[in-house]
Amino acid sequence: MKVAIFGAGTMGSGIAQVFAAKGHTALMYASSVASAQRHRDKLAASLNKKVARGKMEQAAADDIMSRVRVEEFEAAADADLVIECVAENMAVKKELLGRLDALCKEETIFASNTSSLSLTEMAQGLKHPLVGMHFFNPVPVMKLVEVIAGGNTPAELVEWTKNLSLEIGKTPVVVNEAPGFVVNKILVPYCNEGVCVLQEGVASAEDIDIAMQLGCNHPMGPLHLGDLIGWDVVLSIMDVLYNETHDSKYRANVLIRKMVRAGKLGIKSGEGFFSYNK
Ligand code: CAA
Repeated sequence: MKVAIFGAGTMGSGIAQVFAAKGHTALMYASSVASAQRHRDKLAASLNKKVARGKMEQAAADDIMSRVRVEEFEAAADADLVIECVAENMAVKKELLGRLDALCKEETIFASNTSSLSLTEMAQGLKHPLVGMHFFNPVPVMKLVEVIAGGNTPAELVEWTKNLSLEIGKTPVVVNEAPGFVVNKILVPYCNEGVCVLQEGVASAEDIDIAMQLGCNHPMGPLHLGDLIGWDVVLSIMDVLYNETHDSKYRANVLIRKMVRAGKLGIKSGEGFFSYNK
């Protein structure tokens, strides 16, 4: 299958790796061909690191990269599947999907990796039906895919997406459209609450994370997890939850806004509530 992935950041690169590892051709798209090439190089470097640590065979890494390609926009015309993972912004996603709608063959399946936005609104005006295929970070490691049915997603497309998720080694759960779906409706307010606990001076960032790791057996605490997700992403999801429901339990802590404005986004920027070597 030829899969065109739009947005080559953490999620897009991980999705490309997963599809390529299962024998599919993965086209990586970013804001420009040069930028997509840089993301492809980064993916190759991360696989090479795994090889160096003895976690992956060189042949497996080469095999994956032989199927990850960077091409011009027009090459997506005959893709079997397009997955958009661009910025978590309705206008940006709709603009891209509109251009793809005009470009792609009728049979191309359209999927969105949105982590919180309305599939029904995103699909408005498209000839191609749209399904949600929500992966988790880090994509090669996390087993779950939330398969999201928007208001007009055909039942057969939901079924097809479930089967595809199984085929690429993931476990799908079918979710009806709702802001944040299942995981982010629970997990993102949890990260926000971690920041509230810090802001109230209840404990240090280190101790909040140790408490949740050792007290609940979570693999990482809420502040490290927000650093992994990216506080810009956490903030945009909190804002979607709040704007869709007007429920004050979804109010983003102002410290998160301040962190985002300061560019302290977490692991991807080198600093969040903790510091990371770039
Ligand atoms: N990409 C690829 N592989 C990665 C990786 C990455 N970014 N980070 C870690 N891994 C791999 C490692 O290579 C390792 O695999 P091998 O054993 O084959 O080498 C494995 O994961 C375990 O890694 P580590 O031993 O380095 O570290 P760890 O045991 O502490 O695990 C973790 C790291 C998997 C990230 C773990 O801490 C974890 O599961 N954290 C929670 C992650 C989580 O909750 N993700 C969901 C975020 S929410 C989201 O994504 C949705 C959204 O829309 C916002």
